[in-house]
Amino acid sequence: MLYIGIDLGTSAVKLLLMDSEGHIINIVSKEYPLYFPHPGWSEQNPEDWYEQTVLGIRELLQDADKSRVAGISFGGQMHGLVILDKEDQVIRPAILWNDGRTTEETEYLNNVVGKDKLSEYTANIAFAGFTAPKLLWVKNKEPENFARIEKIMLPKDYIAYRLTGVHCTDVSDASGMLLFDVKNRRWSQEMCDICGIKISQLAACYESYEAVGTVLPRAAEELGIPSSVKVAAGAGDNAAAAVGTGTVGDNQCNISLGTSGTIFISSKQFGVDQYNALHSFAHADGSYHLMGCMLSAASCNKWWMDEIIGTKEYAEEQKEIRNLGGNHVFFLPYLMGERSPHNNPNARAAFIGMTMDTTRADMTQAVLEGVAFALRDSLEVAKSLGIHLTRTKICGGGAKSPLWKKIVANVLNLKVDVIESEEGPAMGGAMLAAVACGEYGSVEEIAAKVVKVVDTVEPEPELAARYEARYRQFKEIYPACRPLFEVLG
Ligand code: XUL
Repeated sequence: MLYIGIDLGTSAVKLLLMDSEGHIINIVSKEYPLYFPHPGWSEQNPEDWYEQTVLGIRELLQDADKSRVAGISFGGQMHGLVILDKEDQVIRPAILWNDGRTTEETEYLNNVVGKDKLSEYTANIAFAGFTAPKLLWVKNKEPENFARIEKIMLPKDYIAYRLTGVHCTDVSDASGMLLFDVKNRRWSQEMCDICGIKISQLAACYESYEAVGTVLPRAAEELGIPSSVKVAAGAGDNAAAAVGTGTVGDNQCNISLGTSGTIFISSKQFGVDQYNALHSFAHADGSYHLMGCMLSAASCNKWWMDEIIGTKEYAEEQKEIRNLGGNHVFFLPYLMGERSPHNNPNARAAFIGMTMDTTRADMTQAVLEGVAFALRDSLEVAKSLGIHLTRTKICGGGAKSPLWKKIVANVLNLKVDVIESEEGPAMGGAMLAAVACGEYGSVEEIAAKVVKVVDTVEPEPELAARYEARYRQFKEIYPACRPLFEVLG
């Protein structure tokens, strides 16, 4: 049988075709626009997602036996607010995970409702990118749109809805809405009351590996697939990436170097850290995870290369870097503000430490290192909870760079296991579809069978020690800059 994984990302949708044994047969990527209508805002049109997904699936299946397609599922960009009216029409462009417009609403939730209450109801506090603050923003700033809301969904759930006609979501993505009682895996009535909505306006919530329905005849025809094809709920992109890299079960770690950067730690037990600096979410394998999310990771390197240096030759630029552990330049990677662990939409990126002999290579190196140091900030929070890790998987576009993997291994002092394919979320989506179709008994079973580690980047003790000293210095920079960020607005 064949399974389609859809990774509904921020810059593109990636589609992956996998067979029953987990072999990747084809991968297709289709881009769509991202809009920044005001500084710090970030929006997309759900119709663009659907159009490109349909085009992508058709291309994906061009040379395949379409009658063998059995299941479809997702990894999707998390937290985005998609609102539909009573005719199931999209009311306004989706407000995305990296949108920072909700400072007021986030402050209201954290300081007036109170972090303790939020943590009790949802296991999390409010971050600007989460869905509930966006809902409050629409309520406050666009009351006419708020009044028209019939259904509230997340990005990938809009695609599932268009394919099946079912309003659904899954536990891992629902966890990032701040409307979900993560521990008990159900919607929070208290949070719905706080946001002025009814539970019936939210989608039915499934485990990630459960089928929500089959494709509608219209969609089956559009895609050229049988109408018996099952659609599984899928997962937020980080939980899906964790499935795709075999980060399931207890105390496994995955780092994603995508537009965002995440460190994801799976756990059989539900848990939260003292300050809710890490997100405590449900996992797609039926258990839980902790996650630190930085808003700009590979996107920092992309920005530096494409916009500032003006080159597409990322690997060539990295060849000039020979001074690992000895760079005197630091980079704060907060191009879109920062989520974990600082929770500060006003944080901004900065280079510091340049001298007359600083080279372009030093600056490029500082960007790669700054992202690794910021991931280390989240790892430190996990360590403070008594979590002990010795290794991690890695995925995402940034994981294509051998140098970046080496920097990550040494800055975090973790062995970095490299998987056969770095297509984390799309692979995870296809794997969830295979479980939903009964091809495998559980997410852990398919992960054990199909995920293959092909290489391990080991930290080097001397280099790790040099980076330890550099990290101590890095840690001083954000607290020193924070008052300035408030002044700069
Ligand atoms: C996770 C997060 C990002 C997006 C990126 O909390 O906001 O990783 O899911 O697509």
